[in-house]
Amino acid sequence: MIRFLTLCGLLAVLASPAMAGGPFPPITSEAVKTECAECHLLYRPQMLPAKSWAAMMADLANHFGEDASLAPGTLKEVTDYHLAHASDVDQPRRAKKFLAGVDLSNPPMKISDTPRFIRKHDDVPVAAFTSKAVGSKSRCQKCHTKAAEGNFEDDFVVIPGYINVFGVLVKKVWE
Ligand code: HEC
Ligand code: HEC
Repeated sequence: MIRFLTLCGLLAVLASPAMAGGPFPPITSEAVKTECAECHLLYRPQMLPAKSWAAMMADLANHFGEDASLAPGTLKEVTDYHLAHASDVDQPRRAKKFLAGVDLSNPPMKISDTPRFIRKHDDVPVAAFTSKAVGSKSRCQKCHTKAAEGNFEDDFVVIPGYINVFGVLVKKVWE
């Protein structure tokens, strides 16, 4: 019986891709897909808590130096979608990882300011983010070749201008 239950548990984990690693779930809101991919990669709502999204959506007219404001109906749909899939609401394992260590009394406005982002990019030289080929930490897809599909796994990371030599990042000085 115990063995049977263990097997059921294992199958449940295998059957649930959101729990077992792999890419983030696809974004299903047409409004989000249209409005939030105009200037940059479609960021995953599971990477920031609801408070961050609420604050961002309340001030889209002043969005990182850009006016990203939306008509009221669209704004409501886009806001509701982000709140429903925020890192402290959506519960897949990956959302939880992006919530770990986040100070909810002072929530980050950028995914690139979350503790998980900072920790995971500890070894990446600042110059690799600011290079001409990348531009900023926000340009995830420049290094994460499958970011558009919601896949940030380390197997698909290539930093423009650098090679990974046995785990050490070396700048390609010959380019
Ligand atoms: C008019 C252009 C524009 C639109 C439309 C827009 N953004 Fe942005 N967004 C920006 C700019 C510019 C930045 C700063 C990027 C940088 O520093 O390279 C940014 C940054 C962000 C960041 C922080 C990225 C990081 O480093 O973690 C998030 C999250 C974000 N936007 C979400 C959204 C969402 C959600 C929408 C849809 C409601 C949206 N944006 C629509 C221009 C836009
Ligand atoms: C300059 C290149 C670069 C940019 C830009 C970048 N990353 Fe990364 N990212 C990396 C590298 C390198 C790693 C570490 C891969 C490894 O451990 O082998 C990493 C790791 C990660 C991981 C952990 C993956 C894992 O399987 O443990 C996540 C999640 C992640 N990045 C998300 C993001 C997000 C979200 C953005 C944009 C807001 C972003 N990254 C922008 C280079 C980059």
